Amino acid sequence: MASDVSSNLFHLSWTADIRPMPANATARRWPRCAVLAEQNPERAIEVATAIGAAPVHRDLTALIDGPSSVGTEDPELVVWLPPLVDAGSVDVPAAVHAVTEQALRLLQAWMDNPRLTDTRLIILTHHAIATSPLDGAPDLAQAAVWGLVRTAQNEYPNRFALLDTDHHEASYRQIRHLLTRHILEEEEGQLALRQGVVHTSRLTRVRSDDILSLPAAASWRLDTVGKGTLANLVLSAGPDPVAPGALLHRESTGTPTESAECGSAEAARLATTVDIAGPGPEQALADGHIRMRIRASGLNFRDVMVALGLVGDDGLGLEGAGVVTEVSPNVDGPAVGDRVMGFVPDSFAPAGVTDQRMVIPVPRHWSFTDAASAPVAYLTAYHALSELAEVQAGQRVLIHAGAGGVGMAAIRLARHAGAEVFATASPAKWPILREMGLDDDHIASSRSLEFKAKFLQVTGGQGMHVVLDCLKGEFVDASLELLPNGGSFIEIGKTDVRDAGQVAAMYPGVVYQAVDRALGDPGVIHRLFTRLAPLFEDGTLPALPISTYDIRQARQAFRDMSQARHVGKIVFTLPNAPDGSGTVLITGGTGTLGGLLARHLVTEHGMRNLLLVSRRGPDSDGAVGLVEELTELGARVTVAACDIADPAALAALLDSIPQQHPLTAVVHAAGVLADATVPALTPHHLHRVLRPKVDAAWNLHQQTRHLDLAGFVLFSSLSGTVGSPGQGNYAAANAYLDALAHHRRHLGLPVTSLAWGYWQPATGMTSHLSGSDKSRLARFGFTPITTEHGMKLYDAALTTGLPALAPAPLDLRVLTAQSRTGTLPKILTGLSATFVRRRAGDAGTAPSFAAEMAGLGSADRRERLLRLVQAQAVMVLGHGTSTSLDPEQPFKALGFDSLTALELRNHLGHHTGLKLPPTLIFDHPNPRALCAYLDSRFSSVIPKESSDLLSELNRFEAALASAALDEDEKFAIEAKLNGLLEGLGRSRRQSDAVVEHIMSASTDEIFDLIDKTIS
Ligand SMILES: NC(=O)c1ccc[n+]([C@@H]2O[C@H](COP(=O)([O-])OP(=O)(O)OC[C@H]3O[C@@H](n4cnc5c(N)ncnc54)[C@H](OP(=O)(O)O)[C@@H]3O)[C@@H](O)[C@H]2O)c1
Repeated sequence: MASDVSSNLFHLSWTADIRPMPANATARRWPRCAVLAEQNPERAIEVATAIGAAPVHRDLTALIDGPSSVGTEDPELVVWLPPLVDAGSVDVPAAVHAVTEQALRLLQAWMDNPRLTDTRLIILTHHAIATSPLDGAPDLAQAAVWGLVRTAQNEYPNRFALLDTDHHEASYRQIRHLLTRHILEEEEGQLALRQGVVHTSRLTRVRSDDILSLPAAASWRLDTVGKGTLANLVLSAGPDPVAPGALLHRESTGTPTESAECGSAEAARLATTVDIAGPGPEQALADGHIRMRIRASGLNFRDVMVALGLVGDDGLGLEGAGVVTEVSPNVDGPAVGDRVMGFVPDSFAPAGVTDQRMVIPVPRHWSFTDAASAPVAYLTAYHALSELAEVQAGQRVLIHAGAGGVGMAAIRLARHAGAEVFATASPAKWPILREMGLDDDHIASSRSLEFKAKFLQVTGGQGMHVVLDCLKGEFVDASLELLPNGGSFIEIGKTDVRDAGQVAAMYPGVVYQAVDRALGDPGVIHRLFTRLAPLFEDGTLPALPISTYDIRQARQAFRDMSQARHVGKIVFTLPNAPDGSGTVLITGGTGTLGGLLARHLVTEHGMRNLLLVSRRGPDSDGAVGLVEELTELGARVTVAACDIADPAALAALLDSIPQQHPLTAVVHAAGVLADATVPALTPHHLHRVLRPKVDAAWNLHQQTRHLDLAGFVLFSSLSGTVGSPGQGNYAAANAYLDALAHHRRHLGLPVTSLAWGYWQPATGMTSHLSGSDKSRLARFGFTPITTEHGMKLYDAALTTGLPALAPAPLDLRVLTAQSRTGTLPKILTGLSATFVRRRAGDAGTAPSFAAEMAGLGSADRRERLLRLVQAQAVMVLGHGTSTSLDPEQPFKALGFDSLTALELRNHLGHHTGLKLPPTLIFDHPNPRALCAYLDSRFSSVIPKESSDLLSELNRFEAALASAALDEDEKFAIEAKLNGLLEGLGRSRRQSDAVVEHIMSASTDEIFDLIDKTIS
């Protein structure tokens, strides 16, 4: 990606704040709070209890008029909970309009009341935003409220704060602390709580190391260029050729490792023993094989182990769903065009080949992502419970790691068989088990041995009939002791497989079975699929909960799985190439940006069939000229008058698309403005602006979701992300679009929401902007987008695979100036801080690191090492760019497990050049102890006291690299250095020239310079 493009492409990133709790945290005075109940009395009471028995008021009038129950003083904080909207069961557009209007009325009443001037209103939403793909689909109505409130925050600073929760017990425990520290003391305006961890939002540049690039070749696959770290995952062109018809028998010689999820190791075994028939996608098919276009593919723990080099190199990906594109002559089941799911070797690729016996049709109501999540989990669980343990109605069955893919499948199968199910999971995932119908007597932690005593007590000492295990060591012993009357113990893990005879001798009556190799046989897979298929089809066995990632986000997905952050399954979607003869629908296609994009799609993307739509259609200004121009360029263009917000009108429009040019992509660029500040916005203003974004995008989403589109692009605006004074309605509409993008991503549907900055060409929506409006935008740091640059940004954004981005040139100098005066909105502070933080975390190459160490005294060396360990640990944990990590806290408590510990070791080895033992993190259990160890390794090779001047300068350089300096300090240091240079008789000309160059550089050039400096 060219730097002028990459430096202008941003996204909203949510970073876990893992700073230690301040020492005075428990002794501090808590703010006086109150809660407004309105439609959510039960949740309001929960929140009120969590923030220290705060009084609950029916609504704002009751709060203002009623007798104060918090003494004579008014509350400092009032919490409001907007109504929840379940997208599956309500009229979504109507709910978005209603909830946003309700929020608007409350904000207006709040601003109108002088008594509330010093009180802050906290809008407490529930899953209104997606902090990561693990969050699932956001609440679309509450998301729109976020856009509205962001604007209210711009207009009335420090009067409103947004807080999004996940309803987790641990999150409720944090609320009071968060309200006090983050909102009142640190003035954060937008926060999220996930499983008790506070997340802050910052607009950040899309970093190329987070996104894997798609090779230009049609054939590619996910691969690793070196085992040991997930940073080595790449998408590489062309599959390795496999001889036609050859049968490969893959056998693992890998080291067993602790499995974070039940069945994960079984997935590894499956992959290592399945007889896989070639060829790769470009070769002739062997007998009985089919070729398919893969649309979604399930990630298994085994893939993480392969990527980390813990099992033999078997390729990545083993299950998937897609469309059959070719069958060998003797295939009698699947036909070309069928939607199928099943076992597909090397399935993290756009095409794959498999044995016809290893796939079944995708159940009618399942999407490709639903289908890709099921094969490994359901077949493993079914084989274990039904065929090996022969679970019967009335039996008691314990399922370890019940919130993982196999665990959830097993719970459903055991309940379907009429068994009484007990399950373990980490406490953070207990709500999932409760949602599956288990009460607290049947749930215990998989992290402690207490489950044995608890379940023995609940069952009156009788224990279980069947245990499905994937744990190891004393957990296996405790699980065996849960079979006091004998029974079946099925081991699906690989880390602690025992001898069945020895188990029988020690635990009389216990039949111990490790899931055998039979599952590697296509015939067995076929038999199991035949039994499960009707249960999938009739809904008895529903699809598993999934978190969906584009394949280009593989590094993040692997990291999330390695830390068992997910529930159910992680599934990748594979990008879909547009059908060159297909139709592209552009709503607002006769508008300015719609027209510009239409030209771009014809000239640069070779699209030949365009359907341009607006309410005025052919009567729109310039429509005739646009059609002529596009036709001359070789396109067939239809211009239609259609109000996309009207579902019936849209349905008729879609019906009119000729079958020979089926719809292949949608670009939704319709929109209108009706600007007014939040206090002046009327419901009319609000609904008028919401309609072409909210209703229209929902209609497009609903009416095209059954089509396997290649693209679904939403033209959103940065106003929805950062707020925009005078455009609360427009910000709400665009925040909704961004949330809809996450909603679609969760469903495995293609989507890119582009929250544009403002465009230079005057458009129907911006032609009213005056010179002073434009100067105001420039003062906020917005640089207008030229047509050429905008089209480059469009293309670049679509290559990232991210669901929501902000293509918006921002003037870094303006932002820096705002930062100096303390006026830079918090959400933009990540942009100027990137430089300092990245330098602090980057250790450079191993030789230069060793040289740096040699130049430091012992105290500085330790400090430098601590920063390195903290930065790398934070990176491995996937906590964004935050470097604050408590050095005394054990790695285990920070979230490290055996795999992440290994990865941290690998990173530290890479950066320091030291050969480090695999047990590094266990031998030195916290960052401080680890630093002491690393320091001892360096100090043994470094001369004790290095006192020459260059060493001192090295030391200064290291300190400078990590210091967060303000401008005054930088000038003081610069003056001192210039003085030193003069002392050496050196001229200042060269440095002056550099300063001049920087002062005259454009934003793009500055970002480019920063990139080069960092790399
Ligand atoms: N220009 C910018 O600086 C900028 C910045 C950020 C985001 N955007 C977004 O980019 C998109 C295009 O904006 P633009 O600047 O090109 O404005 P524009 O020239 O006014 O185009 C908007 C188009 O939307 C159509 N439209 C409005 N409501 C519709 C409906 N219900 N059904 C069908 N078509 C409808 C309008 O035509 P009719 O009135 O005939 O229906 C018009 O053709 C908008 O979504 C806008 O929010 C623009």
